Amino acid sequence: MSDPLRLGVNIDHVATVRNARGGALPDPVRAAKLAEEAGADGITAHLREDRRHISDDDIERLMDALRVPLNFEMAATDEMQAIALRHRPHAVCLVPERREERTTEGGLDILREEDRLARFIAPLREAGARVSMFIAADRGQIDAAARIGAQVVELHTGAYCDAHAEGHFGDRDAELARIAEMAGHAAARGLEVHAGHGLTYESVPPIAALPQVVELNIGHFLIGEAIFRGLAPAIAEMRRVMDDSRRN
Ligand code: PXP
Repeated sequence: MSDPLRLGVNIDHVATVRNARGGALPDPVRAAKLAEEAGADGITAHLREDRRHISDDDIERLMDALRVPLNFEMAATDEMQAIALRHRPHAVCLVPERREERTTEGGLDILREEDRLARFIAPLREAGARVSMFIAADRGQIDAAARIGAQVVELHTGAYCDAHAEGHFGDRDAELARIAEMAGHAAARGLEVHAGHGLTYESVPPIAALPQVVELNIGHFLIGEAIFRGLAPAIAEMRRVMDDSRRN
């Protein structure tokens, strides 16, 4: 039997819609509470350097309001480290950030700055956060994540999802095989394995079926789907698809 699969709901894009008008609505914290009631096992929020969606106040309110754990996504900067140490969220997920990108396009290159990242995550771990590294399914990056003392790796599923959406099934299957192999490698190195980026009802089943993967973080698709069926039913359907894929 595989371990149960947790669903982390990313509420960034509720804040994107709010910020399009500059007011207070829709409130991402309300969405997070609804997600919690609908069966989310955790909430993920990315406080970007440019604050394009989630704000500092959102993080403060999420920390107060949530019963489920907050997975705080951030770049490895001094400013973000100070914010994380102030709030002490359950988990901190380090992601690469470039201002010009529309979303988090690639994984973190741990190998390029291994010593700095080792020093960077030490106080976060001491503060009790589970530290996760958002990386490509790459053996070198996984080994580096283990060496610097991260407890978790989140494998980037973006390329797999893009190939799926574009109907490039050869590329999709190659990406999936790589993710499957590297999920096994990461677990063998003692890392907890998460996955996410770009997942939909259609692309999630083979990822949810990987026995080493214990958490999926899903945002953009669910917030979009909420327009059509409501947020709680959209999340409930994702839970159902994930659970069915895990069982089969
Ligand atoms: N995991 C990480 C580390 C991310 O940066 C993101 C996007 O912010 C997600 C998961 C969720 O991706 P999506 O919004 O495409 O579902």
